[in-house]
Amino acid sequence: MRRFVDRVVLVTGASRGIGKATAERFAAEGASLVIVSNDGAEAAAVAKELEERGTRALALAADVSLPAEVDAAVASAIEAFGAIDVLINNAGIAWEESFLDIEDGNWRRIVDVNLNGMFYVAQRVARYMAQAGRGVIVNMASTNGLVGEEKYAHYNASKGGVVLLTKTMALELGRKGIRVNCVCPGYIQTPMSEAIDDEAFLRRYIDEKIPLGRAGKTADVAGVFAFLASEDAAFITGEAIVVDGGQLAF
Ligand SMILES: NC(=O)c1ccc[n+]([C@@H]2O[C@H](COP(=O)([O-])OP(=O)(O)OC[C@H]3O[C@@H](n4cnc5c(N)ncnc54)[C@H](O)[C@@H]3O)[C@@H](O)[C@H]2O)c1
Repeated sequence: MRRFVDRVVLVTGASRGIGKATAERFAAEGASLVIVSNDGAEAAAVAKELEERGTRALALAADVSLPAEVDAAVASAIEAFGAIDVLINNAGIAWEESFLDIEDGNWRRIVDVNLNGMFYVAQRVARYMAQAGRGVIVNMASTNGLVGEEKYAHYNASKGGVVLLTKTMALELGRKGIRVNCVCPGYIQTPMSEAIDDEAFLRRYIDEKIPLGRAGKTADVAGVFAFLASEDAAFITGEAIVVDGGQLAF
């Protein structure tokens, strides 16, 4: 499939993990890519790899929690490529911490990146898309935005916020030609989730909780991002699509 020929796709948090796999998927389907990450060196390496395979790619270093850096990145993307047709708003951080022990600074950092950052990027890109009269935005939420999980109060709260941010954006932007959905993955193997390095725990977790009997792969999520951004999803907006191997079916 080459559904994104002549389309410009901006992916935040595209320097590794799910974001990188998503950039590769859109590139394979013909898109031009804007690779945004707070890790400028990693972003440049991904853009270089894509260019070597014949994709137009631009790397931009920006911390999504800083509005001035988001403004600059969105302006640079539009200046370089003339458009942003698809936004994959994916950058995020997570770590485990008991509710009673969460320090205010840690709470603020997770909400700043996962929720405030998502808002800054989505709003700036949506302002541009509203002028253009078309566009697609897919935000990264999580199953943790739909159900609770112990030791992730800050993360869960931020992702729950993303789900309702998504639905409200869909309501306000639909008549401007912009569709907005979010993806809610369960356990996906990435550098983020590899921070849990207890193999026996993970095996038990998968056996007990995931009906499909395996961890998710980054490509499992990248494919859903591509579907939601494509014309195959032309009548879908305001949705939270769960990609979890059946975990929430219990
Ligand atoms: N891995 C999972 O199991 C899982 C499950 C559900 C949701 N998610 C979500 O998927 C997204 C990607 O996660 P991942 O597992 O690929 O993680 P990862 O750590 O492998 O990648 C995160 C990416 O976001 C970037 N990033 C982090 N903070 C940033 C900031 N302040 N500004 C700009 N970029 C920043 C990193 O540089 C990196 O490119 C996150 O939003 C995460 O919450 C992951």
